[in-house]
Amino acid sequence: MKFSEVSDVTSPGASFFREAKSFADTDSVSYPVFTAEWSAPAEAAGRGDRTPDRAGCGLSEPPACTSACDLELREKTAMRLAALVRDSGDAIIIRDFEDRIIAWNSGAQKMYGYTEAEALGMSLGRLIPENESTRTQEQIRLSAQGKKPAPIETRRRAKDGRILDVLLTVTVLQDENGVPVELAATERDITEQKRADRELRRLYTRVISAQETERKRMARDLHDGVGQILSGVKYRIESLSRKTGLKVGAAAQLIEMEGLMGRAISEVRLVSKNLMPPELCDLGLEPALRTLCRDFRESSGIAVTLRTVRIPAAVPPELALALFRITQEALNNIGKHSKATMVTVDLSRKRREVVLSVSDNGIGFASGGDRQPAGRGIGLGSMRERAKSNGGRIEFNSVPGAGTTLTVHVPLSGPGKTAV
Ligand SMILES: Nc1ncnc2c1ncn2[C@@H]1O[C@H](COP(=O)(O)OP(=O)(O)OP(=O)(O)O)[C@@H](O)[C@H]1O
Ligand SMILES: [Mg+2]
Repeated sequence: MKFSEVSDVTSPGASFFREAKSFADTDSVSYPVFTAEWSAPAEAAGRGDRTPDRAGCGLSEPPACTSACDLELREKTAMRLAALVRDSGDAIIIRDFEDRIIAWNSGAQKMYGYTEAEALGMSLGRLIPENESTRTQEQIRLSAQGKKPAPIETRRRAKDGRILDVLLTVTVLQDENGVPVELAATERDITEQKRADRELRRLYTRVISAQETERKRMARDLHDGVGQILSGVKYRIESLSRKTGLKVGAAAQLIEMEGLMGRAISEVRLVSKNLMPPELCDLGLEPALRTLCRDFRESSGIAVTLRTVRIPAAVPPELALALFRITQEALNNIGKHSKATMVTVDLSRKRREVVLSVSDNGIGFASGGDRQPAGRGIGLGSMRERAKSNGGRIEFNSVPGAGTTLTVHVPLSGPGKTAV
């Protein structure tokens, strides 16, 4: 069959194949699976390269190799690769451009429940759940260019109807002329890992929510309980110190006590505000961030610029709280670790997303993407979980000596709408 004869546009394999063919037509490609790891002896000898020894185990000076020797080495390599594929715990499936399965290893049998005899000739579509769109085009494009594509997550249906989460890598197999002939897929069952991740996230969300309830209670108790008592004591001290006939020393002590009481009241107010900022509940995210940045500037002496662009007045309360807590921890970290002199907090709305970024010009730390320094505090992990439990993601970009930027993307519509 020629490629142009592939007409079933609904068949994923058919479209993959057409794409692979077009990538291969424009780019120089290698033959990813079956090409031996070394060059043909004639070419290698010409370049002075070292080639495998006759037994195929280890390198030696180029032997006076015959084409029979070359063939033997290639056969050995092919046998080794075949054994690896056969015994792999991952499912390894090869299909033709009509989506018919033409190779099925024991890992595939174990994962999906079809025996090799049942699977050979079967359409790959039987493994794909309804409404599952597998985004393999990019993998095919990279593979056809001889690059190594990153695996993607998708879902598969086993023979007994179970839906599995799998990590999928698609490789284009080409013939000697670089023409794509088959598609090989390596599929790893990550169902259990995904379930554990979901459970962990659910637990974490509950912990965060219990923590917030407790913070709210403590903030209220501090403000309405201890705060009120201290105010009462301060008022009485003031009245006492205004009385006439006091000894000079006693009057001075009362004035001093009044000052101390004032400081105690301010401290209690600050702790209560940090536990649950009243602006966040009463006025919304933007005013709460403004107060947070102002307080941070005053307490740390670090210059802070807050920029907000198109933030809706009514950000959902859970999202507002998450963004506030992330900013609060980021500023805490800057104050504790960064030695920065300048901080910028950016909050903007981009289409249906809110994007928050906090950057400093401090000492930075070794990190990248959503990685974080291992074995230290819980602040970075907590920020990441807050972003994820709101359906978003967080990236830490920090280079030692060149400052830190964290960026959070969260959908305005809540956790249900965006894949975590
Ligand atoms: N802005 C920053 N500049 C420099 N280093 C940072 C910055 N933010 C975080 N770090 C580094 O990352 C580490 C982990 O931060 P994390 O917030 O998780 O823990 P912590 O602040 O040490 O403790 P905790 O947050 O639990 O009180 C810090 O110990 C620090 O070394
Ligand atoms: Mg911290």
